[in-house]
Amino acid sequence: MKINPDIRQQFPILQRTINGKPLVYFDNGATTQKPKQVIDCIVKYYSEQNANIHRGVHTLSREATILFEEARKEVAAFIGADDTSIAFTQGTTDSINLVANALHYLNLPKGSEVVVTEMEHHSNILPWQLWCERNNAQLKVIPIDKDGRLVIENLETIVNEKTALVALTQVSNTLGIINPVKQIIKTIKSINPQSLVLIDGAQSTPHLQINVKDMGCDFFVFSGHKMYAPTGIGVLYVKQPLVEALPISRTGGGAIKTVTFNQTEYLDTIQRFEAGTPNIEGVLGLAEAIRFINSVGIKNIATHEHQLLELASKKLNEIPEVEIYGNIDVKDKAGVISFNVKNTHPFDVGTLLDKYGVAVRTGHHCTQPLMQCLNIPGTIRASFAIYNTTDEVELFIEALKKSIRLLS
Ligand code: ALA
Repeated sequence: MKINPDIRQQFPILQRTINGKPLVYFDNGATTQKPKQVIDCIVKYYSEQNANIHRGVHTLSREATILFEEARKEVAAFIGADDTSIAFTQGTTDSINLVANALHYLNLPKGSEVVVTEMEHHSNILPWQLWCERNNAQLKVIPIDKDGRLVIENLETIVNEKTALVALTQVSNTLGIINPVKQIIKTIKSINPQSLVLIDGAQSTPHLQINVKDMGCDFFVFSGHKMYAPTGIGVLYVKQPLVEALPISRTGGGAIKTVTFNQTEYLDTIQRFEAGTPNIEGVLGLAEAIRFINSVGIKNIATHEHQLLELASKKLNEIPEVEIYGNIDVKDKAGVISFNVKNTHPFDVGTLLDKYGVAVRTGHHCTQPLMQCLNIPGTIRASFAIYNTTDEVELFIEALKKSIRLLS
């Protein structure tokens, strides 16, 4: 698929030069750039629509409330959910912490266990590790094989009747590998129907069509900023009837029905998880980013990014000094490629690439346990978005070859 060149025009930052070279932005796994329609939407909100929501009878407040709740519908539809199941948070990390803290109040039986995977982002390990420490519970880990795929053949050796929750990512932020989450959830529920499953969609929502109902998860979390929306806005999907049953761990205005000094009655709707004034412009920006994605088509985005991934993989595999991690069929990966150059440190390669205008992420990518498993300090990661082109992949490969020559 040839992308419409107009798409690049929609991203003002792509006009920038870096060190005198055109910007090649391949750090989309960390955060994507924002299209003009998202930037305009935020400017319009503050120029014409700004008011607090759910709190006023005046016109501006009513208008802002309508915009906010329409945005909720847009976001819910994007992941195949009902708007009554979508809470807005600060991001993926915030959503996971919210669920982990709620678990704290669930009074789970002694000896309960939480399961994560070896490829998780720290954000999907640390809240569970803390919960386990505080509850004298055990954290278990689903391993990966030598190619970086999850070993899911014998899940019953890890998931059992003591499993309170399994938390796993749909797409590895470091390796780009897509996990068969629907199949994994089915297996988990067949072993222990009571076990809850949380899916980290931070790296999947920008690249894959999501349907949380079809997937069968209990919680699905993601961030706006990795999918063309502003930073500081995220989503927590909670499957019914958990919305009402899940204890709240953060309280305040907006989460309640009535308050007296003796007793407070909380909302039984999803808004019970949205205490305090929310990130209104973030929510509107996220809905606008979804309109942008829908206008291009998530399947077209996936096809385009796969072409870039295929080209980058082929070219990188041709360079003898390069070692790719998670070097599996690109059809099982989403827009991310991680590699190292033999006898060099990822930071040195990343710094030289920057001199040629190429932005990649280097380091452990907040996946230190995965790095320990691969026995490396870090990787160089190129991650793609809809505005990237095959010409940029060629520029990146040329810049990498020059960097290798300088470092050898
Ligand atoms: N989690 C983001 C990444 O993978 C920041 O780069």
